[in-house]
Amino acid sequence: MKNYLRLLSYIRPYTKTILTAIFCIVVAAGSNLYVPWIIKDMIDKVLAEKDMEMLNYISIGIVVVFLIRGIFYFGQSYLVSYVGQRVVIDIRGQLYRKFQRLPLAYYDKHRTGEMMSYISNDVAALQNAMVDKLIELITEISIFIGSLGMMFYLDWKLSLLTFAVVPMVGQAMNIFGKKLKKSGTMIQERMADMTAMLQESLSAVRVVKSFVREDHEIKRYDQENERNFEAAMLNIRLMSMLTPTVEFLAALAVTVIVWFGGYEVVEGKITAGALVAFLTYAVNLANPVKRISRAFGTMQQALAAADRVFAVMDLPEMIADKLDAKPLPKVTGRVKVDNVSFSYNEEAPAVKNISFEVKPGQMIAFVGPSGAGKSTIANLLPRFYDVTEGSITVEGMDVRDVTLSSLREQIGIVPQETMLFSGTVWENIRYGRLDATNEEIVEAAKAANADEFIRQLPNGYDTKLGERGVNISGGQRQRLAIARAILKDPQILILDEATSALDTESEKVVQAALDRLMVGRTSFVIAHRLSTILGADRILVLDHGEIVEDGTHEELLVKGGLYSNLYNIQFNNLQQG
Ligand SMILES: Nc1ncnc2c1ncn2[C@@H]1O[C@H](COP(=O)(O)OP(=O)(O)OP(=O)(O)O)[C@@H](O)[C@H]1O
Ligand SMILES: [Mg+2]
Repeated sequence: MKNYLRLLSYIRPYTKTILTAIFCIVVAAGSNLYVPWIIKDMIDKVLAEKDMEMLNYISIGIVVVFLIRGIFYFGQSYLVSYVGQRVVIDIRGQLYRKFQRLPLAYYDKHRTGEMMSYISNDVAALQNAMVDKLIELITEISIFIGSLGMMFYLDWKLSLLTFAVVPMVGQAMNIFGKKLKKSGTMIQERMADMTAMLQESLSAVRVVKSFVREDHEIKRYDQENERNFEAAMLNIRLMSMLTPTVEFLAALAVTVIVWFGGYEVVEGKITAGALVAFLTYAVNLANPVKRISRAFGTMQQALAAADRVFAVMDLPEMIADKLDAKPLPKVTGRVKVDNVSFSYNEEAPAVKNISFEVKPGQMIAFVGPSGAGKSTIANLLPRFYDVTEGSITVEGMDVRDVTLSSLREQIGIVPQETMLFSGTVWENIRYGRLDATNEEIVEAAKAANADEFIRQLPNGYDTKLGERGVNISGGQRQRLAIARAILKDPQILILDEATSALDTESEKVVQAALDRLMVGRTSFVIAHRLSTILGADRILVLDHGEIVEDGTHEELLVKGGLYSNLYNIQFNNLQQG
């Protein structure tokens, strides 16, 4: 209920439109109600009294009533759909904004398809519930109340009699309905049992044969089959009984009403036309009742969708600007990681007690076995996740105290796998800085060793790149990512295995571009291939989330620890290869 009110709050901006729509609905429903009156006059005045003038009035009346009905019906469905579409767009937009702001931790735990379904399916279900079904409810309720009023107006005694008998038929249908539902469930369960048994015995056919248990299995299957038959027959019995019973009860009810109504006509208490009009209203009542209960059912389902959508909207944005967050001024690239521990979940921490300091322009390499925590540290710098313990400061300011945008604007990331957007090469590189000119983009592409291959593409820089950039190679994609980073011109760079997916030849080209990119910037480089980090100012060797060695390439070789082991293995492989 709370969520339904919240849903309705999305309609509030369109109050005027929706009130106009409701007016149209009531007028359209009202003209529906007028039809039995026409029938009444037709019978009582025209047919009984041969009143020609009345016939003309009635003919004009029919045309006018249906014209009005048509106009207001148009108004109703147009306005209602208008509000429905607006509301959907509003909720979708709000949900999408929320998704853009949710921390990566949320994305770790949820499947992309699930989130897409929230935005497309659930929101559409909401529109259905909130607008379409709400309108249907208003329409049907107006018709219901109108018909009811008319019936009492025409003949209150007959109305009371009707409302005494008709619910009895409804009650009978209810009882059958419940039994049918139960037997339906039973059929489903028996079917499931049988399928499970089939699956088991057929897939265990070797066991069955080796124990010569074919006859045993056949007997078991026959039993299940028989049980299935019984369940089906119970259902069929109920179904076959339902129609005649309901029809018979309905006939009884109609007989009572028709008898009493006919008696009143004979006695001259009401006219024949009034009786026919009364019966028409009574028949009309059946529709609203059916539709109202169906609309309630749909609304119930849609509320489940609303629960999901609002649950997402209410998620806390763990990683957001503090109220008093200040923009980070242009940095020189000084970074201090102070006793940082972090765990993705409540389990063992991914990194523990990490401390190091980086001076502007230095190149820091992280090496270590898979799962050691290298990417994790790279994730903490731009605050994709918040540290669990300790602190990270850039230029002396804690990353949690500055605005996210000012922090991330100054950090460039070249990831292992580059995602390209569908769009031209221009657009893809411009993603690095939206106001870059074409000349600047070409400059960046040249520096990234990408200009040459871009010019060879079918339409050069205007070539459209497909989904995920499938039509260019991994190395080319990587160079576009580097061009993006060059354009962004960040003071701090993170290269997470930027060349690991490449063959030696493309690696050389990409590496040359990266070397050029790193000049004058603080860079964090993660690499499995140690050849790419020999020139690092400092190498941090990670194992099980902790720094186990720390020094330059030469110092670490002399130490003869994990690093020199890794290096020797790769070096020997190179020699043999
Ligand atoms: N999004 C995540 N959610 C939960 N646990 C994660 C997540 N990412 C990484 N981990 C875990 O954290 C630990 C460190 O992972 P990390 O990705 O930092 O390793 P890595 O050193 O970069 O390894 P690789 O060389 O294979 O890339 C691993 O045990 C990993 O299972
Ligand atoms: Mg990694």
